[in-house]
Amino acid sequence: MSHLIFIVLLNILFTNGLKYNGYQIVHIEPTKEQTELIHQNCNFDYITPLRRNGGLTKVVVKSEERKIVYNFLSSNKIKFTVIVDDLENYFKKERLHQLSRLKTFDRGTISFRRYERHETINNYLKSLASKYPELVSLENIGQSFEGRDMIVIKISTGRGTKQKPVIFIDAGIHAREWIAPATALYVVNQLVENSTWNNFMIQNADWYILPSLNPDGYEYTHTNDRLWRKTRSLGSECTGTDANRNFDFYWGTTGASSAECSEIYKGRNAFSEVELQNFKNFSEANKDKIKLYLTLHSYGYFILYPWGYTSDLPQDVDELQHLGSTVSSKIRDYSGTRFTVGSSTNVLYPAAGGSDDWMKGVNGVDLSYTIELQGDYEGFELPAEKILPAVRESFVGIQAFHSYVDKKY
Ligand code: ARG
Ligand code: ZN
Repeated sequence: MSHLIFIVLLNILFTNGLKYNGYQIVHIEPTKEQTELIHQNCNFDYITPLRRNGGLTKVVVKSEERKIVYNFLSSNKIKFTVIVDDLENYFKKERLHQLSRLKTFDRGTISFRRYERHETINNYLKSLASKYPELVSLENIGQSFEGRDMIVIKISTGRGTKQKPVIFIDAGIHAREWIAPATALYVVNQLVENSTWNNFMIQNADWYILPSLNPDGYEYTHTNDRLWRKTRSLGSECTGTDANRNFDFYWGTTGASSAECSEIYKGRNAFSEVELQNFKNFSEANKDKIKLYLTLHSYGYFILYPWGYTSDLPQDVDELQHLGSTVSSKIRDYSGTRFTVGSSTNVLYPAAGGSDDWMKGVNGVDLSYTIELQGDYEGFELPAEKILPAVRESFVGIQAFHSYVDKKY
């Protein structure tokens, strides 16, 4: 028996290969001028983007690059600190940690004490639909490239004659941003399983939630590569498209790459990804009802509104900014966490072909936001014990979004 456990353990530890052996996570703090230098000379794999005016950024340094990178940083007097010394080891620890929680919590419902697999997520949605048939219904919007079901859960009390405003939330478009699906599931959990307490949130609004928009990528981050971002569609040289560069609105015009192997590959053509075709069909069918769209990413502590394709601001920027700031201050009052609010080009970076821009620009959903959720100093790997505090404070923000919609419609 112990022999068996040992083999299972070995498997879990080593099937993933040792891709990140000796990789480091390094915090760099360049000035504005040094930022320019880095732009010209380095090709870092960033976990927080390098911002125009400098400031803290987090990068991954491969073992074979160490010498050259540290020489470059020191000779240009750029401030840096090594935060994680061996990424493989770090991921290994987190995998073991998740495993140790498996026994206690794998009871078919969601515990928010570990990151769930795609199938568990879908099973949870199904179990809610059968337990709460008057409140919950499911719509399977299609299959992913590798054939996984993409399920939207609809939460609606169904009473009243007038069409209620719909709040549409998705998560997981970027595979490695694990806290995003967890947050979407927490919203589901609170609205359905804690519906007495949160009754005010379902009285005058319907909620459509798609917790896992890129299931193949998400599974791949669990089984093979923790830092996978894209979909898993096959290309001629490399696998996957950045689904958040694949929407048909100023597609590929800025902040996206035509190179198949790039992390921000825009795809063969707009909506080349089957996951996005499913998403498009669903969104178009419901666009008149959807009054608020939230797409969950991590990390960065940002509440972003369009546009991502231009630094120009939308004509209703005042409303978008005002609502974003209200949400941000509610979260700050609750936990002290500060989210920065602004247009995605202006506070983050230009990137065309994102879902938020498309939802607003093409579908006419005025209130459209990307939320860059919590991350730890390690980046995407927010440790499992931090899921609950993270999703709780985000839920406070979602309540604030809801109360605005409630008043307006
Ligand atoms: N981190 C997100 C991404 O790179 C930000 C998206 C913001 N929205 C946008 N349309 N650029 O996809
Ligand atoms: Zn993202």
